[in-house]
Amino acid sequence: MSPIVSTIACIEKEALQAIQESKSLLTLEDVRQQYFGKAGVITTLLKGMGTATPEERQTQGPLLNGLRTTVMTALESKRDSFEQETLNIKLQTERIDVTLPGRDESEGYLHPIPQVMEEVMAIFGAMGFAVKEGPHIEDDFHNFTALNVPPEHPAREAQDTFYLNAERDGMPLLLRTQTSPVQIRTLMTEKPPIRVISPGRVFRADYDITHTPVFHQVEGLLIDKEITMGHLKGCLVEFLETFFGIKDLPIRFRPSFFPFTEPSAEVDIGCTRKDGTLKIGAGDSWLEILGCGMVHPKVLRNCTIDPKEYQGFAFGMGIERIAMLKYGIPDLRTFFESDVRWMDHYGFKFFERPSILNKVGGC
Ligand code: DAH
Repeated sequence: MSPIVSTIACIEKEALQAIQESKSLLTLEDVRQQYFGKAGVITTLLKGMGTATPEERQTQGPLLNGLRTTVMTALESKRDSFEQETLNIKLQTERIDVTLPGRDESEGYLHPIPQVMEEVMAIFGAMGFAVKEGPHIEDDFHNFTALNVPPEHPAREAQDTFYLNAERDGMPLLLRTQTSPVQIRTLMTEKPPIRVISPGRVFRADYDITHTPVFHQVEGLLIDKEITMGHLKGCLVEFLETFFGIKDLPIRFRPSFFPFTEPSAEVDIGCTRKDGTLKIGAGDSWLEILGCGMVHPKVLRNCTIDPKEYQGFAFGMGIERIAMLKYGIPDLRTFFESDVRWMDHYGFKFFERPSILNKVGGC
């Protein structure tokens, strides 16, 4: 046997033995490195072929290739057997008990605020109102001045309004205190006839059982020719009867004051209060539910609309308030406490919405 042949046979024997004796994937990797690493025994021999004579290459090349294949195959088959072993151990120890009951997925609910917003949008949508949103950060002009709120009005005071450390037109910006500024934004950008509702978040510096610093309102605005208080009444009666699902709901319009409407009214619905509970729809008590009125001519003029040509009505109501009344939720603050048990109780399943559109007519 030529010296090179016996060297190759010797390397092969040693390598196969080392593979055979390795106890784990880790020691097997050491063996692989020893033979096939950068400076490994077989790697070095193969590299040497680069400088060999053609004759040497002819005789030794096939022998070296044979060595490489044999050792590599042995390494792979040993690795497979280690992996199989690990898998077997896993299968033995990690048995799945298919008779165990499955884990329940916890169910999500829709919060009453978006639910009620959706109900309101559906009812007014059926009456031809489009939805229009406005920014939460407002300026003095849109939130107060254009709405005819005088400079000395208490709503402008810092105890009531969240002012920001930024200004526009020399006046501090603020978090809108009502959705009425969307009226101004609509009147300034759209041409009558206009029919919009604007649901959204509003902010006031207040916190007790009936007030939270963040709450939601929906604003309504209709502008057209020859619009009267009769249209306003018809529209709101239609809405309230549909929303509460009560035909001939007792409703009264009580004269009131808002700077942006003239005349203005507050709307009450009939109810019974007994033993601390409230029942809507009958009885001798009244409950205030929203504010409304005919858009003040000054507001129209502030938005360059001629009040002789166009008139209209506006209204605004609190989403939480109507949600509390419809679904019997007693405390306003619970809307914002993120208590999952509360949601389980008052939340709405996505696919099981209460029917709201059983009675929708024109305005
Ligand atoms: N913006 C009023 C508020 O926050 C609600 C309101 C009353 C809106 C009368 C109106 C309206 O559009 O006509 O209390």
